[in-house]
Amino acid sequence: SKEAIRVLVTGAAGQIGYALVPMVARGIMLGPDQPVILHMLDIPPAAEALNGVKMELVDAAFPILKGVVATTDVVEACTGVNVAVMVGGFPRKEGMERKDVMSKNVSIYKAQASALEKHAAPNCKVTTHQLHGFLLRFICLIGSNSYFAIRSQVVVVANPANTNALILKEYAPSIPEKNITCLTRLDHNRALGQISERLKLQVSDVKNVIIWGNHSSTQYPDVNHATVKTSSGEKPVRQLVADDTWLNSEFITTVQQRGAAIIKARKFSSALSAASSACDHIRNWVLGTPEGTWVSMGVYSDGSYNVPKGLIYSFPVTCKNGEWSIVQGLSIDEFSRKKLDLTAQELSEEKTLAYSCLS
Ligand code: NAI
Repeated sequence: SKEAIRVLVTGAAGQIGYALVPMVARGIMLGPDQPVILHMLDIPPAAEALNGVKMELVDAAFPILKGVVATTDVVEACTGVNVAVMVGGFPRKEGMERKDVMSKNVSIYKAQASALEKHAAPNCKVTTHQLHGFLLRFICLIGSNSYFAIRSQVVVVANPANTNALILKEYAPSIPEKNITCLTRLDHNRALGQISERLKLQVSDVKNVIIWGNHSSTQYPDVNHATVKTSSGEKPVRQLVADDTWLNSEFITTVQQRGAAIIKARKFSSALSAASSACDHIRNWVLGTPEGTWVSMGVYSDGSYNVPKGLIYSFPVTCKNGEWSIVQGLSIDEFSRKKLDLTAQELSEEKTLAYSCLS
């Protein structure tokens, strides 16, 4: 039988955590036959609620759930995890400045990155049963350990997601940058949803939209390369929608502001769709994207499409053998170029702000 995969969910007592952990335990993230052990981290004020979630996981009797670690200790939480979904963060409260929220969150991500580094045992030989190293150590050694199907892979969900991921990367320099990503799959899925609603078609027949840049209102949902499966073959979205005004304005703003619209309607953040999209993100990363299909992921920029290096930026990617690669060679028109640059500019500013908060 398959070795269990350890999945860390931080902020597990929160809204997204509550929607996400049953999905993981049902096999939606890693497949219905893949045993999982859930590691759930939250902060001491949420410890009782976290324990309640653990009780419910036991009560639900998920067949593939082989164990639950519920803790407020970051070291215990990170020990031996293969997949880390970083949802924990400080929410924006009324009257808080952007800088205040940024400051709280980048401090959390810096601390969690450094805690991992500091506690990693030097030269430890890691085997399945002796995982004394933590997330970081595990990542370093996993390449030589064929015992595991996958290496440790991190997705940051908590906002500012791109910049939190960047801080996590910078303060855990031994973690390969390829292993640290942020979630923009929800925005990608929202774009697919809007197109399918507009065309009154199945969402599964729409593919290859792109979210460029920041998981914020400057993101650019791009349909220039998106297609739809029809009874007469695959057709470009632009041809089928045939309303450039809608595609270039309302479609874009609807996707950009969907998060705020959900909060307004629900009074809580978009937990169900964020959790489901986080599962999609990890599943495609670990198990691969279908032939001819790409997805959007916030990844460390290598300068593709003239996006500045050193930012975590959302690109179109395909995944194979547990590795993502940025789709190359897509044409970028003038309208798109401006939008790619605008969201890159915001990310550069966030990066500067994050560093000023930390210094
Ligand atoms: P929530 O406030 O319900 O839950 C956050 C949880 O994190 C709480 O249980 C809190 O106690 C915990 N937490 C705070 N500091 C922590 C720390 N240092 N270590 C571990 N846990 C900690 O918020 P919700 O709705 O679950 O959202 C979580 C985050 O995800 C927010 O930052 C939100 O803005 C973001 N988000 C991101 C999306 C995306 O697509 N990337 C979509 C929707 C939300």
